[in-house]
Amino acid sequence: MSFLPSERFSVAPMVDVTDSVFRRMARVMTQRAMLYTEMIAAEALVHAKYYLIDFKEEELPCCLQLGSADPKKLAQATAVGVAHGYSAINLNAGCPSDKVQSGNFGAILMKTPELIAKCYQAMAEAADKAAPAGVSIPVSVKTRIGVDELDSEEFTFKLMGTIYEAGCRHLIIHARKAWLNGLSPKENRTIPPLDYERVYKIKAAFPELHVTINGGITTMEQCHEQLTHVDGVMLGRAIIDNPYLLASVDRELFGEDKPQLTREEVLARMVDLGAQLQSEGKALHFLCRHLLGLFNGCAHSRLYRRYLSEHMTKKEVRPDILLKAHQAMVQGMLDV
Ligand SMILES: Cc1cc2nc3c(=O)[nH]c(=O)nc-3n(C[C@H](O)[C@H](O)[C@H](O)COP(=O)(O)O)c2cc1C
Repeated sequence: MSFLPSERFSVAPMVDVTDSVFRRMARVMTQRAMLYTEMIAAEALVHAKYYLIDFKEEELPCCLQLGSADPKKLAQATAVGVAHGYSAINLNAGCPSDKVQSGNFGAILMKTPELIAKCYQAMAEAADKAAPAGVSIPVSVKTRIGVDELDSEEFTFKLMGTIYEAGCRHLIIHARKAWLNGLSPKENRTIPPLDYERVYKIKAAFPELHVTINGGITTMEQCHEQLTHVDGVMLGRAIIDNPYLLASVDRELFGEDKPQLTREEVLARMVDLGAQLQSEGKALHFLCRHLLGLFNGCAHSRLYRRYLSEHMTKKEVRPDILLKAHQAMVQGMLDV
């Protein structure tokens, strides 16, 4: 299978965000969504398997994102990832950071679509070999619609067509191009304009290709709308800003018939998760930082946020800091 059902809604790979603690936090709210790891350099994974130690079964379904331009290293890293139980493997061909560019991978790979095709093939072959009998571990590519001057519709078709010809049947397309000179990674997520139509055209031209659209999607309504054109939606920054969006995913997008957790119920479960993390020797702020936006959109949420950010890095902090932050918010409401 080249596209797991959970890919209908996915949380984007985000360095320094979508770590194991983030994914365990997300799992409290959605059991169905696909969760991506941060991008991990294939070389680092093969030589130092630190990242894999920090991966729990409860995070599944989870897709390991790899970065490299070396098909051999990518194949090795894919085999390691499959052996550790990841549900799917993804190649990063869209990240514009200087660090990634100096390693000649990420977005710069778009300049050589044939190399992406080779990387994909090496990874797909490695995934097939490493997968347990009867199990298929899909390999996908995450890319953009173009890079630098290579931004015509013709180029987008050549890029996607070359990857498709290599056998890839799942592309995640960030619907804007990357500017490699002069824009920071952050600017590269806002300045080049979004072009959803270009992505829809790709889907129409390659009906057997599963297309996940990414970039600028922030609400469930937008997810529903996008899913009338493509097979999957991937959200990144909207989940950082408003993680509670995840609580509606299973009902709204997977048709699950279970009641949606309230924010307060989520918070209570986070207290338990915090205690669990502490018993594993992890500092609580690794969880709290992902929960700063839990009450976004609610009255006086800034009081919750302020309390949490002021206290979460203190020594001796305990999981009930989350309840205290919530109390600060409720008190703010009563004081009005
Ligand atoms: C903090 C941060 C880190 C990111 N790290 C990665 C990464 O490791 N790999 C990747 O493919 N994209 C990375 N991205 C890009 C996102 O996956 C996504 O493509 C981008 O944010 C656009 O989606 P959005 O508008 O829903 O945020 C990162 C984005 C952010 C905000």
